[in-house]
Order: sequence, then structure tokens, then C-alpha cells
Amino acid sequence: MHSLQLLPKNAKVSCFPTTLHSSNAFYSKTLSRRTLLPLKPKAKPYTTTLIEAVLQWNRKPQLAGETPRVAVITSGKGGVGKTTSTANIGLSLARLGFSVVAIDADVGLRNLDLLLGLENRVNYTVVEVLNGDCRLDQALVRDKRWSHFELLCISKPRSKLPIGFGGKALVWLVDALKARQEGCPDFILIDCPAGIDAGFITAITPANEAVLITTPDITALRDADRVTGLLECDGIRDIKMIVNRVRTDMIKGEDMMSVLDVQEMLGLPLLGVIPEDAEVIRSTNRGHPLVLNKPPTLAGLAFEQAAWRLVEQDSMQAVVVEEEPKRGFFSFFGG
Ligand SMILES: Nc1ncnc2c1ncn2[C@@H]1O[C@H](COP(=O)(O)OP(=O)(O)OP(=O)(O)O)[C@@H](O)[C@H]1O
Ligand SMILES: [Mg+2]
Repeated sequence: MHSLQLLPKNAKVSCFPTTLHSSNAFYSKTLSRRTLLPLKPKAKPYTTTLIEAVLQWNRKPQLAGETPRVAVITSGKGGVGKTTSTANIGLSLARLGFSVVAIDADVGLRNLDLLLGLENRVNYTVVEVLNGDCRLDQALVRDKRWSHFELLCISKPRSKLPIGFGGKALVWLVDALKARQEGCPDFILIDCPAGIDAGFITAITPANEAVLITTPDITALRDADRVTGLLECDGIRDIKMIVNRVRTDMIKGEDMMSVLDVQEMLGLPLLGVIPEDAEVIRSTNRGHPLVLNKPPTLAGLAFEQAAWRLVEQDSMQAVVVEEEPKRGFFSFFGG
């Protein structure tokens, strides 16, 4: 059964074809009053999501699924915010009390350590562990701010993927993390490199779920669509997306696709919507992830919301109703 949602009079809804293969051009249509818009079965109406967003601060999220939850953070297109999302969601999960190991699988161009401000503490990497030069726990860098959070880098910066290193090595690594004396982590987040070559294949191999990061532009969406197909071919069925760098002013001016457009185009459940925020760049340069900012910023809160949904294997619904002049603060979380 599809749930139904009422739209106000003359609400204008931008629509995309459901796949990229049919056409790249989007069209918009005007819906008359009380038009019934079918939503996906799991989708929740805006008000429900909004109320949950407020209420959830008073409770701890319920961890769904079996641990460790191994999630790859991927995109296809580079520079859309995979590493930013890994750092912020990872620390949010740790703050919620879950143990997290974040693996930087971006060999040669690693930068998760920089975003986390942990670059001076990475003495060993997975390559040294596999060579027998150090133990696994020596390569794990524990965050001083949140001790539930540990970082693991595959290799030193600017180094090449060692010959023979592939998906099997990462599966071994995940198994070794499960078997640690400290106990199995709740979440293993894998920061995937851009592209769909060997590094991507390696990064997705041990994952049983994926968080697809995209920006609302046609090039990122085409790559995201391709990556979705590859993830599905690899047997990863649980794929959710985060739409990053969203600008409501540009959406209103019809210079940027709305989140609803993106969702209709990719057909994936929505884990979160992150606004464009200069504070992201500032926090990146300071090695102090946004979610740790006080007072919290809009993008930081949006990352926390996404982490919350990840824990509960939940999703949100994007609804864009252009007639409403101001949706306010929570428009990013519920619409
Ligand atoms: N919501 C946002 N608002 C503003 N800037 C952002 C936002 N998200 C990411 N950025 C910026 O975009 C740039 C790329 O982000 P990031 O390194 O996380 O992308 P990536 O997908 O990991 O890139 P790569 O494919 O190279 O690994 C960074 O400078 C980051 O600060
Ligand atoms: Mg990156």
C-alpha cells in the first residue's frame, strides 16, 4: 500500500525520469489542489519526520541489524563529500555511544585523517599490518575526543595500492576487527575512493550496506546511478543516499535540482540532506568535524540526523512544495 500526501493548491512539483537512461532533461508539472502524490511504502509524511526529529534528542537510537554493520560511503564522482560524510557520521555514531571503526580506503589520496585532525597519530597502516610489521591495534588510531571512534588507514599518503591487495584483504581486515579482544565494533565505515576502478571494487567488497553521496547536479547523478548498479551487482541491496551541498536559494531559482528530483531520479531511500555550508570547509581545515561544533550548525545537525537514521535503518522523504515561501529550519530534515 502506498501512503498518500496532500499538496496545496497549484503546488508545482519538479519531476525527473526515474532512470537516467531515458533522458537527462527534467520537466515540471503543475498539480491541482488536493492532488494525491504516491510516496514510497517506507516513506513518512513531513510532519511525522519533523516531530521525530525533535523528539529523538530525548532517546538513544535503536541499533537495527547485526553487528558489525559494514557500510561503504561511496559516490562515483569525486569531491562530492564522501570523506566529509564518513568523518561526521562516524563521530555522530560514536557520540551516540556506538563503537565505530572508520577505514580510509582511498589509497594514495587519503585525507580522512586530516578531516579528523588525526594525521600526526597515524604511524602504521593496513599495509604494515598485512606485511607483519605491526599488530592491527597499532594501526588503529583512537580519537581522543570520542574513544568509541577509531581510524584505520589502508596505506601511507601518495603510495600505490600494493600488488595483490584487493577485496579479499579488506574482508580479512573486517574479520580481524570482528575478532578483536575489545569486542566487535558496531559500525565499520569504509570511505571509498572516487571512480569505479580497482580501489572502488576493493572498498565495496566487505560491505553489506552502502551510503551513496551525491550532489544535486547531473554529472554526480549519472555517476551515482552507475555506482548503484555496480553495488547491486555486488549483492549490496541496502543502498541509501545522502544529497549533499543543497542550496534552497538555488532550488527556488530553479538553478538547482530539488532533493525530490534527485530521489525520483535515483529511486533510492534518502538517508539525509546536507545543506551547503561554509562551516564544512572551515571545520575541514581545522581537523575538527562539523558535528563537534558548538553551537551546532545546520549541516552538522543534518549529519547527526543522517547518522540517527543509519542506526535505525530508517529513511526520510523529500517533498518540495514551491508554493510555500519559507519552510524554516527543519526543511532540511523533513522535506
Ligand atoms: N555540505 C558542504 N558544504 C560545503 N562544502 C562542502 C560540503 N560537503 C563537502 N564540502 C567540501 O567539498 C570538498 C570535497 O569534500 P570531500 O573531500 O569530503 O569529498 P570526497 O567525495 O571525499 O572527495 P574525493 O572523491 O576526492 O575523495 C571539501 O573541500 C569539503 O569541505
Ligand atoms: Mg574522499
